[in-house]
Amino acid sequence: MNETATPSFPKHLLDFQDWRRTQVESLLETAQMMQEVLARPVKKVPALTGFTVATVFFEPSTRTRISFELAARRMSADVVSFSGAVSSTTKGETYRDTLRTLEQMGIDAYILRTDAAGVPHQAHRWLHKPVINAGDGWRAHPTQALLDAFTLREKLGDLEGKKIAIVGDILHSRVARSNAELLPMLGAKVVACGPATLLPGSLPGTTLTTNLKEALAEADAVMALRLQKERMDKGLLPSLPEYIAGYQITEERLRWARPQAPLLHPGPMNRDVELEGTLADSPRSLVERQVANGQAVRMAVLYHVLVGKKS
Ligand code: CP
Repeated sequence: MNETATPSFPKHLLDFQDWRRTQVESLLETAQMMQEVLARPVKKVPALTGFTVATVFFEPSTRTRISFELAARRMSADVVSFSGAVSSTTKGETYRDTLRTLEQMGIDAYILRTDAAGVPHQAHRWLHKPVINAGDGWRAHPTQALLDAFTLREKLGDLEGKKIAIVGDILHSRVARSNAELLPMLGAKVVACGPATLLPGSLPGTTLTTNLKEALAEADAVMALRLQKERMDKGLLPSLPEYIAGYQITEERLRWARPQAPLLHPGPMNRDVELEGTLADSPRSLVERQVANGQAVRMAVLYHVLVGKKS
């Protein structure tokens, strides 16, 4: 396919396997326009008038769910909010039957989070409308990676040749997997670092290391990941004090990275575990900026899967 042609967009956002760099770049440009909408006194445009979007969450969320719901409302869509915990899935209804039930009610796009990997991929075969993956098990969290890339570009400019160090529980992290797909597509070099028990055997697009100093050396940005205790089998983590001793991002260790290298964390964070608490609130931290950017990025995603590029 011609990389320079005006990109059309995949109907779904499950991961980045069907996406090309031009499409990602175009989506990030749309997110920039959405930032401008969000800076207005009246943060509302009619782009999705008449569409109904469902957030279908089988796992807890604060950032992803609320920012998607706000994103849809800012573009004048109707929003329905489904929580697995208080739904008929507790009576044994399957994912498929649940989603097909929602489809009969005229949903135009599904934003789906599950603890099981692969459900969004199955859902896009069961449904006739766009499916956006809001996180499936360990596998993918593409909108988190998009907002991370948007935030990194806002701070660092073009990511070509930039070294991004991702530190923590890489094994259980869908954020690491999606960033490992997306950031190299934008030209960045990704180094993923953690204790041996929390690293996968391989992670395409990244260099894996257990050596924190090596990972942080000359890094242009550092991203710490949450220790995902809910996904860990017993015995993978030495002890919290040992993890902190070896892998917590501290002010002292951040000096191994480039001067002023920013610090990211997708949240929710275990304060004083992945990051020294003071660093999370320091001027180096982009944690709150990531959250703010999430809304604009998710507006862009909804716009592209539902309306598509007009030019
Ligand atoms: N980063 C992220 O996915 O956060 P939530 O679980 O709060 O949505």
